[in-house]
This record gives sequence, C-alpha cells and structure tokens, in this order.
Amino acid sequence: MSEPNVNNGCRCGCDAGSKMDVQNSKLKEADEIIYKHKTQKGPLLSILNEFQDSFGYLPRAALEETSKVLDMPLAEIYGVATFYSRFTLKPRGEHTISVCLGTACYVKGAKDIFDELLKELKLDGSGETTDDGKFTLEATRCLGCCGLSPVMMIDGEVYGRLTPEKVPEILKKY
Ligand code: FES
Repeated sequence: MSEPNVNNGCRCGCDAGSKMDVQNSKLKEADEIIYKHKTQKGPLLSILNEFQDSFGYLPRAALEETSKVLDMPLAEIYGVATFYSRFTLKPRGEHTISVCLGTACYVKGAKDIFDELLKELKLDGSGETTDDGKFTLEATRCLGCCGLSPVMMIDGEVYGRLTPEKVPEILKKY
C-alpha cells in the first residue's frame, strides 16, 4: 500500500498552509528553547523568559509543548505565566504605551488621555493591540513620577503633563 501524500500546506488557496508553516517554525524554536533549559534546576522560568524574548509573548502551543516535555500540568504553567507581569499571553505591538491610572494621574485627567489613545489607535477597549501590530495600549499603576501627572510611558520614555490634545503629536513620533 502506498503512503498517503502528506502535505501540511493547503491547496485550496487559503493561507492555512503558510500559517501552519509559521506555527511549525515557532514550535521548532520553542523545542530548542525547552531542551536548552530542560536539565537546569527549575527550568520553567528560564523557558518562559526566553519565549517572551523570542516571540514577544507566550504562544499557547509553546506552553503545551513545555507541559509535555517537562511533564508538568499545563494549568501549573499558566499559573506561573499569569503571575508575573513580564509575561503576556497575547502578541504585543511594536511599541507599548502604558497610561498611568494611579490616583495622582487619575485626578488630573488620565482617563481622558486613555480615551484619547483608544480613539487615536482605533481600539474599542476589547483589544489592547492595534490591528497593524504597531501599538499595545495598557493601563498601569503609579509610574513613580506623580509630579508630572498625568503621565504615560512609551517604550520606557515618560511623557508628563499630558493633555488629550498632545496625544496625536506624540504618537506621530512612532
Ligand atoms: S500616580 Fe501616576 S505617576 Fe504616580
């Protein structure tokens, strides 16, 4: 009996084949990362850190593979992944905008800044990353510069004494 012709690529014209290629290459990279750290003591954090650096987030397929290789329940891995704010379970944008909604910023109008960003970035509040993958918007607590409130940070650069009118100009720099 002849072997079935196994082809991961889809021939119908959809992009399922290329998506599968991307997934396969991610899985291959994930495997390399897992096996690199597998024999270390307590390898999970090192693996998750490297996933975050390499992929920009923690892809579910990579976490499932980790669960399999380390023989660790997936729920336990998710528990660690969601405990640390450094890790994200969704792809992040090229630039991260963190708007401080701490008390000092809030009373000086941080909510208006946040709303202006939602409008400028065409986000409806349900998704935190723009469709073009350029920006991720997040609310955060005190950034430690209350004297400049209201404050936002883009990729680590602080913008203070904001007004909604200043937001579009700042975004243009990116
Ligand atoms: S409350 Fe916004 S920087 Fe402190």
